[in-house]
Amino acid sequence: MSSAQRVSEQASATAVEVLENSACPQKIAPSGSYARGDAEADPGPGLLVIEEELDSRVQAEGRLQRLLRPHLNDPSGGLGYHLRALRFRHSLWAPYIATVQRWLHDWRPPTDTLVVVGPSAGYALDAAFLARFRSVRALEPDPLARTLLRRRFAQIAWHFDRLDCLHDGGGPGALAAAYPQAAILFANVLGQALDPALLPAWRGALADALRLHHWASWHDVLSAGTAPLPADDLDPAAFRDATALARALWRTAVEVSDHDTFALAPQGRALASWRIAPAQWQVVEWGMHRPADAHSAAPPAAQVRQ
Ligand SMILES: C[S@@+](CC[C@H](N)C(=O)[O-])C[C@H]1O[C@@H](n2cnc3c(N)ncnc32)[C@H](O)[C@@H]1O
Repeated sequence: MSSAQRVSEQASATAVEVLENSACPQKIAPSGSYARGDAEADPGPGLLVIEEELDSRVQAEGRLQRLLRPHLNDPSGGLGYHLRALRFRHSLWAPYIATVQRWLHDWRPPTDTLVVVGPSAGYALDAAFLARFRSVRALEPDPLARTLLRRRFAQIAWHFDRLDCLHDGGGPGALAAAYPQAAILFANVLGQALDPALLPAWRGALADALRLHHWASWHDVLSAGTAPLPADDLDPAAFRDATALARALWRTAVEVSDHDTFALAPQGRALASWRIAPAQWQVVEWGMHRPADAHSAAPPAAQVRQ
């Protein structure tokens, strides 16, 4: 274990103690961001061998940049998120959590392995859902979340991997290569922790690189400081875009943030609203992708010839 990892594990152990003994959450200012290196390098004019060396160096740097760096504070999670969960998960969050658990219950990918991207401490995850898989792997940079996840779902043999699939537009391809046989679950991470500038590339890459995978995502689509009308019974497919959805959910003039994730996943789409704090609401979308069934695709050549 590196000294940085040791420090972060110690910090997380202390934070678990604070969280478990805390009756009154403190106000924490979220901070922290990823160091995003420059993946592009111009080898300039020169011999082929130099270009090859540079290529392999760039590739090695790319791999390093795709390594999750542990941190306790994150704009989309971290300590502030755990304290909010401690305070609201049995009250304000309860209807949203029940809806996510129903979505997960109904999602039945036929795989032994599940990869969860951004589980945090699994506040919206469900033990019976996780227990369906022989192997559950998680990509989560927050060491406190990992400790809490192990405690909250003690019967699951968690494997924590270090791929940072959100680092660039090649994330879906990196996931497909690292987990060729797994189902992938994006656990309310794509509308929060993914740089919005990467979303256009992600939309294409999800449809292309993960076309043979079962994958699903629930993600923030819209957020506002004013309550939306009930979203749960609306069919997202009935709305042309996020603006049309926002108009239906807030009939008065209010400021609504668009997370650019509307219709990210093609099938089984559904909506829920999440009162994440007393004066903050998120509209969350669920969706999944089921690979085309080989048996229902074009008939085999032998049959065609007959
Ligand atoms: C809003 S939280 C997810 C909520 C959670 N699934 C739940 O059930 O409550 C977003 C999570 O994404 C994590 N995250 C941030 N960057 C990430 C990355 N590059 N890869 C995977 N997870 C990441 C954060 O640490 C945080 O735990």
